[in-house]
Formats: sequence, structure tokens, C-alpha cells
Amino acid sequence: MAEEAVLGYLEKNEEISDSGKFAEEKGINHDEIVNIIKSLNGFRLVNAQDIKKERWVLTSEGDLYAKYGSPEVQLFSAVPPEGITREELQEKLKASIYKIGSTQAIKNKWIEMGKSQVSRKVQHVDDKVRSLLIQIQNGEVISSEDIDALKRRKLISSQMWKGYCVKKGPKYAPKRKKVATDLTRENLQRGDWKELEFKEYNFLAKGQPTEGGCLHPLLKVRRQIQMIFLQMGFEEMPTNNFVESSFWNFDALFQPQQHPARDSHDTFFLKEPSTTRRLPEDYVERVKRVHESGGYGSRGYGYEWKREEANKNLLRTHTTAVSSRMLYALAQGPFAPKRYYSIDRVFRNEAVDRTHLAEFHQIEGLICDRGLTLGHLIGVLHDFFSRLGMSKLKFKPAYNPYTEPSMEIFSYHEGLQKWVEIGNSGMFRPEMLLPMGLPEDVQVIAWGLSLERPTMILYGIDNIRDLFGHKVDLSLIKRNPICSLGL
Ligand code: PHE
Repeated sequence: MAEEAVLGYLEKNEEISDSGKFAEEKGINHDEIVNIIKSLNGFRLVNAQDIKKERWVLTSEGDLYAKYGSPEVQLFSAVPPEGITREELQEKLKASIYKIGSTQAIKNKWIEMGKSQVSRKVQHVDDKVRSLLIQIQNGEVISSEDIDALKRRKLISSQMWKGYCVKKGPKYAPKRKKVATDLTRENLQRGDWKELEFKEYNFLAKGQPTEGGCLHPLLKVRRQIQMIFLQMGFEEMPTNNFVESSFWNFDALFQPQQHPARDSHDTFFLKEPSTTRRLPEDYVERVKRVHESGGYGSRGYGYEWKREEANKNLLRTHTTAVSSRMLYALAQGPFAPKRYYSIDRVFRNEAVDRTHLAEFHQIEGLICDRGLTLGHLIGVLHDFFSRLGMSKLKFKPAYNPYTEPSMEIFSYHEGLQKWVEIGNSGMFRPEMLLPMGLPEDVQVIAWGLSLERPTMILYGIDNIRDLFGHKVDLSLIKRNPICSLGL
């Protein structure tokens, strides 16, 4: 009906100068008219031009006064010709009406307020404010001074009204022809395709967003770090076992069995299967000896090493468990230098908060070769981290049971204007390497860091639960950009 009204009117008239007035005349809802105009404009049947008008509407306070009269008139009417005490008058009126009404009535010189007595100064008043408000309600035009006065009293506020001025468009027709969107088999059989008008292609339309194949930010950053390791000649270690024995996760790394990290408060132990089935027996024997009494120039820890502790299965607490397996495997053949890396999940029994989860991803790199020194470690860390875009590094002495010396790695964060800890590193101890069977002059330099930390910085995420876990918003994964490292 709205469409016929618009097209029909334009058939006989030059233009619809104001869609609002047009809607009113035809008794059609303006929103409906607007929708039709937009659609007809899209198909070039009409040319529509925006018109915007500032319109005044009553505020909720203005609404009340239009209904019940302005506060000053309400107050005036409550003052009898013989006068009234302030208290009595106050009792007759609502507090806000009394307050506003008395101010305005005094300003208008309608009443006089003595110390205790209130009396009329005139006998009759007109409620000009109320009639102005009613005029506005009816869409009538009032003078700009009156508008200003009502605006100052916050009884009216302006609203932008939008409508259209409409003329015939290049494709104008008194009736819209339904355009075909498809050429069907029936069109061909009936032969009516000759008469059909086809809808034009819209080459500017956006395609459907792809729902699948979107990569999580952690995967994108992992990929970039993987490429950096590959460029530096590293091979990936097989990390496809979340379940590990305490032996490879701790004992092989010269971590004593009483170490607090081996407590169930820090580590998730498995109930089923609770123990590992197989360990290399002769190597286990050498690890036991180095823990108990040392060897290879070490005094050991001097405690009774228990096989049951080593057999316990757990969710690996670091990927260094995989490094220990790899180095042991390497020691079984003739020695060849190696560069290994891994990026995979680890688990710790930690209280969950905005920066910690009970599982996260660890990035680990190690180099195994003859004659390596702390200088090599510092050098390779500079190389690696500058490829990630962090070239200002500082090192602080630290402690790990399996490395000596050990260093925490700090990087200067330009955004935060401070040094932030980014990783941990060290040279694996002889107590770890020699029982494996590696030659005495072989050293291993290694480092580890989390994947989450750099990802959160790159993607501006400050709560880890927005990045990983069941609370992650799927649209984050569908719409996240590529954030390049080190550029
Ligand atoms: N395993 C250490 C950690 O979990 C990281 C590390 C790896 C430290 C290699 C030194 C050498 O924090």
C-alpha cells in the first residue's frame, strides 16, 4: 500500500517534498514509507534525498506540566486570596512543585513570600508554559525565545527527525515489475524468459563470511615461532604425549624426589594408569646413583631414591620432559650435534586467575654440541628473541634443578616502558647429561617460554580466559587478524 501510494503520487506529481507530511496525509506510518522509499531508491525507481529536521519533544517533566499545569500555576492556585502560611502551603504541594513553583511565581511577581506568610499579588494568572508545551506536543511552531526558555527549564529536548524528498528515478514506473533472480527450467520451457526482466548483479555485495578454517591466535603465533626455529636450523621434537612418567619429567632432569614441584599440589598425577610400564633399566640405575651419591664430579643429593616415585604417571609439567627423552635417545648412537625445538601443551596444578590457567603451551629450544658455553646461550637467545621483535634483553641468575648456570630472560617492553620476564634458560647439568651416555665434552644450552604471554601481548588480550578455555568468544577466532612478530 505504501509502495502504491509513493509511485502513484509521483505519476501525477513532480515530487514528494516531505515524506513525513506525505505519510500523515495518506494515513500511513512514516517508518513504513521510509522503508519503501529506500527500497525504491535502491532499484532507481525513485531518487530520494535526505531531509533532516530538528524537532522539539517534551521531556518527562514537560509531559507532567502539560498534563497538570506548570508548577508556578499549581502553586499560585494553592494560595487563597486571603493568603496562607509557608508551612500550610508546603503541605498542600509536592516538594518539587513547591520549590520550582515558588521560584517562578516570585519571578513572575505573582506572589509575595514574607517570613511566614505567602500572599497573592495578582488575582488571575495564565498558564503560558502549559499552553506552550501543548503546542509543542501538537507539532506547532513557537517563537525561538519561548523555545529557549523551555529548553533552559529542561522541559523540552531536541530530536533529529529524518525523512526524504522523493522524485522520479531513471527507472521510474507506476508499478514495480517483479524482477527475476534466476533463469529456471520452467522459464525455458514456457518461453517466458524473453519477457522477463532480470535483477542486476550487485558486484559490491560482501560475500558470506567463511565459518570454517579459522585459526586460533595461539595457532597463528605458534606457526610464526615454528618458522623462526626452522629458519635457525632447529628440528621439531615429538611432543604428542601429555601423559609422562615422573622419571622423564623429573628424575632424568636431576630433580630430587622431595622437590616441592613433585607434590600433588603442583602436579596432576594420574589415577589410571597410575604408573609407567617400562623404563630403560640400566639408565634408571645410573639416574638413581647420581641422585643418591653423585658421580661425574658431583656429590649427588644423598637421599634414598625410590623407584615407585619415578614410576608415577603425571600430566607433564614442562616440555623439558620431552627434551630429556630426546637427549637420552641421542646419546644411544654415535654423537651428532642437534638443534631441537617444541611448542606444546603442559599442565600445572595452579590456581586459575587472569594470567594463569592449569594448562598452557611451552616453547622450548635446545642446542646440543661440543664445547658450548654460556656465551653461546646468550648469543642464541639474542638471535631468537630479536626475530620475535625483542632485541633489548637482560639476564638474571636463576635456579633450575637441571641447569647450571641458569638465567631468567627479561625483555624491555616499549609499550609498558619496563623490563618484563619472558623466559627461563640454562645449561643442562652434567648430572643430567652424563648418565644418559653423552660424551663428556658435550654441552646442552636450552631455554623455555610460554606461548600465551607473547600471544596476549600481540592480540591485546589481558585475561587469559578470553584466549583459551570454554569462555572464549567464538567470534574472536573467526575475526582475529594476523599479528606479525618482529616487524
Ligand atoms: N622447563 C623450564 C620451565 O618450565 C624452562 C626451561 C627449559 C629452563 C630449558 C631451562 C632450560 O620453566
